[in-house]
Amino acid sequence: MTQDTFPIRKVDHIRHYVGNARQSAFYYNNVFGFHITGYHGLETGLRHEVDYLLEQGDVKLLFTAPIRPGHAMSEMIAQHGDFVQDIAFEVDDVDWAYSEAVKRGAVGAREPYSLESDEGYVRIASIHTYGDTLHTFINRDNFRGHFMPGFKKTMTAGDPIGIQEIDHCVGNVEIGKMNYWVNWYEQVLGFKNLISFDDNDISTEYTALMSKVMASGNGRVKFPINEPAEGKKKSQIDEYLEFFGGSGVQHVALRTDDIVHTVSRLRARGMEFLSVPRSYYDMLPQRVGAIDEDIDVLAELGILVDRDDEGYLLQIFTKPITDRPTLFYEIIHRKGATSFGKGNFKALFEAIEREQAVRGTL
Ligand code: FE2
Repeated sequence: MTQDTFPIRKVDHIRHYVGNARQSAFYYNNVFGFHITGYHGLETGLRHEVDYLLEQGDVKLLFTAPIRPGHAMSEMIAQHGDFVQDIAFEVDDVDWAYSEAVKRGAVGAREPYSLESDEGYVRIASIHTYGDTLHTFINRDNFRGHFMPGFKKTMTAGDPIGIQEIDHCVGNVEIGKMNYWVNWYEQVLGFKNLISFDDNDISTEYTALMSKVMASGNGRVKFPINEPAEGKKKSQIDEYLEFFGGSGVQHVALRTDDIVHTVSRLRARGMEFLSVPRSYYDMLPQRVGAIDEDIDVLAELGILVDRDDEGYLLQIFTKPITDRPTLFYEIIHRKGATSFGKGNFKALFEAIEREQAVRGTL
């Protein structure tokens, strides 16, 4: 039994900085089926920006947009496009988490402070991680209200598609920087390296990347970190770094307990996914053995399967959801497997290369 040197309860929420939070909220409400459950803006006393809170299962997403010229946030959005700006952690003690993180080498972004209302207070602080991404520490044990003081409770119901929780969040960092951030997560946040993939695991004829999966002390927060490796052509990570303008969050994996349902609903609402050739499914039975799902249904929906020592998993990846080839989503259904779909890497990267070729960025 190893000691958890930096207790984190779980990912509390993911904040996106976007150009138009109202339209982002509409998209996640209508396509992913999130409920719009909170609002903070001019009508609730916020003068320079606006926040929409969306929820499904245990997943909370915040969409924040500047609403006046010259807002500091606008410069970041001009640089990156809409992006994941903050992966916030719920912790027992925000003041301890912040001072301990800074003592262990983190760069502080906001010192601990309280947001108060007549329903109590929420304690918050933030540190910088890779690129313009933050980790906010939050504790609302002394708050009886909705999400955070200032937020008005709203209920624009979505039609949920079975999303349960955030499974993992992947960061892309510059070449040569993966181990720097692996060490940072180990030293600052007490994460452990679960698995490593080198360019022998993750390469095609043309492109390669390296990846290490970091996990928090209690195992509930999982952050794979990718860096590009030398290949004949430009890798998907190089493409991301070029269009994003540096390191940032590449994809967020949302866990479902019924991937056929989740992906059917997403497809019916117009979501586009990466596709693999039919031959992938011809080889599937011998690669993963017996599974509960009908392979023809999986093939029709484009769902991928992989097996590890503990079970199997089903997964699928959306095409980028922004104008730039940057942020995308993964839908993952775990049936015992705790791994990340290594057996699908080759088929996936070839699928991404086909997309890159169309974009002229391979
Ligand atoms: Fe993933």
